[in-house]
Amino acid sequence: MLGPVILAASRSDRMRRLISAAPVTKQVVDRFIPGETVDDILPIVQELTGKGLEVTLDVVGEDITTPEQAAAARDAYLELIDRLKPLELGTRAEMSVKLSMFGQSLPSPTTALDGGPSGSAPAFPAGHELALANVRPVVEAAAEIGTTVTLDAEDHTTLDSMFAIHEELRKDFPQTGCVIQSYLYRTEQDARRLAANGSRVRLVKGAYKEPAEVAYQQKHEIDKAYVRILRTLMEGEGYPMIGSHDPRLITIAQELARRAGRKPGEYEFQMLYGIRSDEHLRLAAEGHRMRVYTAYGTDWYGYFMRRLAEKPANLRFFVRSMVSK
Ligand code: FDA
Repeated sequence: MLGPVILAASRSDRMRRLISAAPVTKQVVDRFIPGETVDDILPIVQELTGKGLEVTLDVVGEDITTPEQAAAARDAYLELIDRLKPLELGTRAEMSVKLSMFGQSLPSPTTALDGGPSGSAPAFPAGHELALANVRPVVEAAAEIGTTVTLDAEDHTTLDSMFAIHEELRKDFPQTGCVIQSYLYRTEQDARRLAANGSRVRLVKGAYKEPAEVAYQQKHEIDKAYVRILRTLMEGEGYPMIGSHDPRLITIAQELARRAGRKPGEYEFQMLYGIRSDEHLRLAAEGHRMRVYTAYGTDWYGYFMRRLAEKPANLRFFVRSMVSK
């Protein structure tokens, strides 16, 4: 029951101010977000890749309020890519981006509300075009250093826009990936489309607070949907990326890959930095591609709160460290 309460707090400005200012917060935050700057994160990238792992890098931030902040987010990724270049890691270091941070959630003077992919109901947020304009140079720069970008999935209201941007980017950069969430009813259909058109797709359970009109609420339903969707991805033409720490799903994924005739390297596992780190190394040692989603930056509040919501024991640890000071 704690999870939904924490997710609600993740959207509260008052809680953001309170928690961000708490003196002990940083130690707990560091477990999940191991740096604030590019200088902090590059040694971590080298350490992880030195152990045979791969990374996807996320400059944390969301819910921006001005076009200048969206441009700053774009520039932060461009700086990161520039600094990654001499390391010559290719796809061993890719980028994950949240389109809300690139302007998707802003009112945009350049765009009237547009039709969705079906061209009927207005489905795109007004900042759709701005987000596309900001993310394109990041995808271009990534391609120049031989790597890729994956578009994270945010709350369900943003997804038609995200998928349309994904499709648009794939015309020039077919390796651009996207994320789908097994808790949403719509995802089985999205997975069939993406599997048929050969896309890179990360499947996750979903980390936002979603209503019963659009999403399964029970863990067993979300897990069962995850398996059905993963089967579609494994049997399809694309490249499945299994974004989960769930030991049962990881075993099932290997079996589904085997049945679909996929060898390690024709799919990959992905986990979050700071969660089940031994398992990262174990899967890599078994010959799997194992990518660690590594977030950094100063605007860590939303990302951090979702990690607390996923495992209430994290919250107890956080509260204990606050009261023991
Ligand atoms: P589950 O929550 O059942 O956890 C399985 C086990 O993993 C737990 O028992 C525990 O041991 C461990 N665990 C999981 N979360 C933990 C935590 N926070 N702290 C400590 N232990 C934890 N979501 C989204 O909506 N959009 C997105 O774009 C992404 N992107 C993304 C990328 C990658 C690489 C991963 C791994 C996950 C995401 N997510 C995401 C988050 C995802 O939706 C989901 O909330 C988390 O992965 C937790 O779900 P699990 O599949 O790990 O299972």
